Amino acid sequence: MSILTPKALSPSPCLGKPRNPIPNPKFRSFKPHVTQFHCTCERQTERGIEFDTGESFFRHESATGRDLGVLAAALYRQSKGSLRVLDAMCGCGIRSCRYLLEAKADFVLANDANDEYRGIIVGNLKKVERGFGDTRRWVVSHFDANRVLTECYLQRDFFDLIDIDSFGSDSLFLRSAMSALRLNGLLYLTSTDGYSSGGHRPHCSLAAYGAYIRPMPCSNEIGLRMLIGGAVREASLLGYHVTPLFSYYSYHGPVFRVMLQVNRGKEHENRHYGFISYCSQCGNTRSFSWEELGQISCSCSSNKDCSPVTVSGPLWKGPLHNAAFIAEMLNLAEQWGWIGNSTGADLDKLLKRMLDESDPRLPVGYIKMDEMASRAKINSPSLKTMMSTLLKEGYAVSRSHIASNAIKTNCTMKECIRIAKEIQGAQNLDVK
Ligand SMILES: C[S@@+](CC[C@H](N)C(=O)[O-])C[C@H]1O[C@@H](n2cnc3c(N)ncnc32)[C@H](O)[C@@H]1O
Ligand SMILES: [Zn+2]
Repeated sequence: MSILTPKALSPSPCLGKPRNPIPNPKFRSFKPHVTQFHCTCERQTERGIEFDTGESFFRHESATGRDLGVLAAALYRQSKGSLRVLDAMCGCGIRSCRYLLEAKADFVLANDANDEYRGIIVGNLKKVERGFGDTRRWVVSHFDANRVLTECYLQRDFFDLIDIDSFGSDSLFLRSAMSALRLNGLLYLTSTDGYSSGGHRPHCSLAAYGAYIRPMPCSNEIGLRMLIGGAVREASLLGYHVTPLFSYYSYHGPVFRVMLQVNRGKEHENRHYGFISYCSQCGNTRSFSWEELGQISCSCSSNKDCSPVTVSGPLWKGPLHNAAFIAEMLNLAEQWGWIGNSTGADLDKLLKRMLDESDPRLPVGYIKMDEMASRAKINSPSLKTMMSTLLKEGYAVSRSHIASNAIKTNCTMKECIRIAKEIQGAQNLDVK
């Protein structure tokens, strides 16, 4: 909060006339430009809602991330009775529109630093009666996200859900977003930095999220854990703790999105904030606590010395989703007719996979079938056969929403290899 003094601030973005943000060299690179990912001047439809994208940054592929946000927002409204949303980087405003129409948000502040999008955003939001005074449903502003969040905090104008659909590994907004959030509110964060999660820019991940990330096979799960870990650190500083309601990875981008509930009170034990290791010798991924620092190794080596392992962290090593909340999202999606038909198949599959991944017996990471097959020097058995055999042998197993040809299991790589070889042996006998 020290960067802005009240004197330097303009009136609340909710009340004042929208103005251009203070020139920010970082933002300048986000001025609209046409790339292969952009849709320009197009009329679009999402979940039956028509809208224009104009020259704004819009990705049709992000619709699932918007679906998930709307479902969570609607559940929040149902349980609390009201919902105020701050859409800090709204682009053309479709997200804000959906929070109003589908989640029945009482109020949405749709903000995008780029004031050239104003006409498009207002045009799209006009579907919803704007209202006046206390019944006002929406406002559009054009501030830097940090500024709008900080001003809301200073004005004690708190929000139930803050959606930050940012680019890169932008953690600059974490503190101001948590400050502007109502207690027990929801924070929907984004990272699109696949280089950092892939371990190719450890100094960037360290600067952004306080986590030194190194290359590991389950790097896309690491990306989600890195983002949650950054929020855990920031929350702890402010005397809060966070609980992930869902974590969503999409390869378009890539995009890492996490919906966090932010509650009062520090998590003193740091039970779910620690380190993740990968042993390239045996292929096992494991998590370690702070108390185990200095003893991180893998005992797979036949030498009496343990094998060195690749370690990333600190990051979130706890559950990626809240199973009860995902079940409610699934239920609501069914009620709304979003699933249970061919167009809803993807969302259905995604939510069910998230539910399966929430099994508390499942450890961090996943085993890629290709890696297992190459270590075993055999052709990979089918995912279905491998999973049913693991279940028969008493292991916990699920598919991963992150990697299509991978399994999450509490079985070690060595045991998986044994099982895969046995499956192959049995199949060869059947052929003879
Ligand atoms: C990924 S796009 C948003 C897409 C939109 N949320 C959607 O669902 O279609 C990111 C947006 O953030 C805006 N932006 C970039 N930096 C910003 C900042 N510092 N403050 C506010 N908006 C910013 C860009 O103009 C861009 O429209
Ligand atoms: Zn090992």
